[in-house]
Amino acid sequence: MKILLTGIDGYIGTVLGQELLKAGYEVVGFDTGYYRGAWLYDMPDFKEPKLIKKDIRDVIIEDIEGFDAVVHLAELSNDPLGENDPKITRDINHKGTVKLAMLAKEAGVSRFIYFSSCSVYGASDNIADESSPTNPLTEYAKSKVLNEKTLQKLADNNFSPIIFRNATVYGASPRLRFDLVVNNLAGLAFTTKEIKMNSDGTPWRPLVHILDVCQAVLIALKAPLKKIHNQIMNVGDTNSNYQIRDVAEIIKNTFPGCTVSLNKNGADKRNYKVNFNKIKTVLPGFSCKYNTAYGVKELKEIFEKIKMTKEVFMDKAYTRLKKIEYLRKTNQIDEKFFWR
Ligand SMILES: NC(=O)c1ccc[n+]([C@@H]2O[C@H](COP(=O)([O-])OP(=O)(O)OC[C@H]3O[C@@H](n4cnc5c(N)ncnc54)[C@H](O)[C@@H]3O)[C@@H](O)[C@H]2O)c1
Repeated sequence: MKILLTGIDGYIGTVLGQELLKAGYEVVGFDTGYYRGAWLYDMPDFKEPKLIKKDIRDVIIEDIEGFDAVVHLAELSNDPLGENDPKITRDINHKGTVKLAMLAKEAGVSRFIYFSSCSVYGASDNIADESSPTNPLTEYAKSKVLNEKTLQKLADNNFSPIIFRNATVYGASPRLRFDLVVNNLAGLAFTTKEIKMNSDGTPWRPLVHILDVCQAVLIALKAPLKKIHNQIMNVGDTNSNYQIRDVAEIIKNTFPGCTVSLNKNGADKRNYKVNFNKIKTVLPGFSCKYNTAYGVKELKEIFEKIKMTKEVFMDKAYTRLKKIEYLRKTNQIDEKFFWR
C-alpha cells in the first residue's frame, strides 16, 4: 500500500514516516521543508523516505496519482505561528488543504486522513466530545474548523475523509518542538531548572504521546472504509486531560530540584477538557499506550544523552515561530512564505 504523507519533515511527520515504513508501507513524503535542517538527536535505524519537496499550495494531480491513501499534516502548525500572519495561515492551511483534498478525490485516492486538532474546542467549561459546538479562538483553529467542514462536504461514495482532532502532542522526535507545552516545560526544567508556565496553571489541556497518534493512523489505514468514512474522532485518552500545573508537577518529579513558577497575566486563554471515547469504538484496538510521565522521562533521557544546552533549547530550529521569522528576515521565504 502506497501512502502520501504530507508534513513528513515536521515534528509528527518525522516519526510517523518511520512508523509507516516499519509497518511495511511504501511512503512518499510531501513537504516544503521549513524546518528540515533541525535534528536534535540520532534515531536508530532511521530510513530517509522519498520526498516531493514542494509547497502544498503548488500541489498538482500528478503528485497524488497512484496512492492508496493520503495522510495530511502539512500546515502552519500551532496557534502562535498561525496568529503571526492570519492571511497566510488561511492560504496554506485552508486553501492548501482544500486543493489537496479535491485533487485526491479527482485522482481516486479515497482514504484521506486529515490532522485537525482539539484546539477547535477553544475554551469551554464542559468536557467536549465530537458533537460539541466548536469554539476556535485562533486563526489556526478557525482554519481547522473550516477544513473539517469542507472535507465533510467532499465526502461521497468515492472519497472518505477521516478527521483526527489530535490532543496536544508530546514526546520524542528528532525534529522536536519546544513550542508544545510538555516538551517546552521539560526543556526549561533541564536547561534552566525553572518550570515557567505561560498561564496561572489552571487551564485544562488534553495531551497525547506522539506514538499514540501514529498508532491511530496505522489503525485507520487498515480499518474498513465504511466504518471510518467521514468520521471525526478526538485522538487521545479521557484520562489524559491535565491542568497545566499538574503537568508542571509531573515534570518537577522527573527533574528534581526545579522550581515551578506561574504567569498570572499569561496570554494563553485556551482551556478545554475532551472526551476520547469515540475513537475506541470507531478504530477497533485503539487505546493510548503512553502517559505524560513516560513521555517526560523519555525526553529527559534524550536531553541527558545529547547534553542539551540552553542555546540548543532556545534555538530557532525547534520553535516554529522563531524559525519562520528567521526565514522571512533573511529573505529565504517571500511575504507569502514561498521559498525564493
Ligand atoms: N503537534 C501537535 O501538538 C498537534 C496537535 C494537533 C494537531 N496537529 C496537527 O498535526 C500536523 C503536524 O503537526 P506538527 O506538530 O508535526 O507540525 P510541524 O510544524 O512540526 O510540521 C508541519 C510540516 O508541514 C510543513 N509545511 C508547512 N507549510 C507547508 C506548505 N505550505 N507546504 C508544504 N509543507 C508545509 C512544514 O515544513 C513541516 O515540516 C499539523 O497539521 C498540526 O496542525 C499537531
